[in-house]
Amino acid sequence: MKSPTVMSAEDRRREIRAKAESLGVDEAYIALLVERFYERVREDSVLGPIFETAIKDNWGPHLARMKDFWAAVALNAGRYSGKPVPAHMNLVNRVNLTPGHFPIWLALFRRTLEETAPSPAATAYFMERAERIAQSLQFAIFGPPELAGAPLGRKPAAPF
Ligand code: HEM
Repeated sequence: MKSPTVMSAEDRRREIRAKAESLGVDEAYIALLVERFYERVREDSVLGPIFETAIKDNWGPHLARMKDFWAAVALNAGRYSGKPVPAHMNLVNRVNLTPGHFPIWLALFRRTLEETAPSPAATAYFMERAERIAQSLQFAIFGPPELAGAPLGRKPAAPF
């Protein structure tokens, strides 16, 4: 009987990178996407002030970190080593981050992709990942959707 093939981490990385590159997604596109997206974010009347307060004049390091993050997500590049959950948890107190900010973030990300992505499949590739990460961030920060917006620690009303 043929033994099952075990894929090495390096094979897996190569496979992910090949799939992304077949959609036109590479490091150069990720750099463009991140720069255009944060230009939009900074112009947005709701998200702009949040980012200006949180990031101040550290835009260089923030953009570099976000390029590493998206290269890790989309290309399995392995350079990103931050902690998105505590970073966003801090924003709840610092700049009053709420669940309502997430649809605005996702809509700006989608619009940036629609303007710049090399193919509709590339837009779908990033949006699937962004939506999944946005959901897991919201779950980690605010808890399950039925509790989002409720004061911390409050339990849903008993159904009887
Ligand atoms: C509600 C919308 C969001 C807002 C207002 C927001 C805002 C921010 C801000 C201000 C920072 C910088 C934090 C700091 O340096 O102190 C940050 C970091 C970051 N954000 Fe978001 N974010 C949002 C949603 C998302 C989503 C949906 C993703 C991923 C798909 C994401 C990924 C990241 C990552 C990876 C970092 C870097 C964390 C680290 O390594 O320190 N964010 N975000």
